[in-house]
Amino acid sequence: MYVCMCFGITDKSIAAVVRNQGVGNIRELKEHLELGSQCGKCIQMAQDVIDSTIIDDSMFKEVG
Ligand code: FES
Repeated sequence: MYVCMCFGITDKSIAAVVRNQGVGNIRELKEHLELGSQCGKCIQMAQDVIDSTIIDDSMFKEVG
């Protein structure tokens, strides 16, 4: 699923930087991916993807 249409960034690529680079917010995300600097419509959805990735991971860790 595309989160940022302007730069062609998917939810999977956002989740990957959250997991691999420890990204926890939009400012950090923008250091790794070009996103949000055209129309800005994707910022809220990108934030949601960051949040749900972190929640998914922490649930996984608690189970493990
Ligand atoms: S959709 Fe991300 S900047 Fe336009």
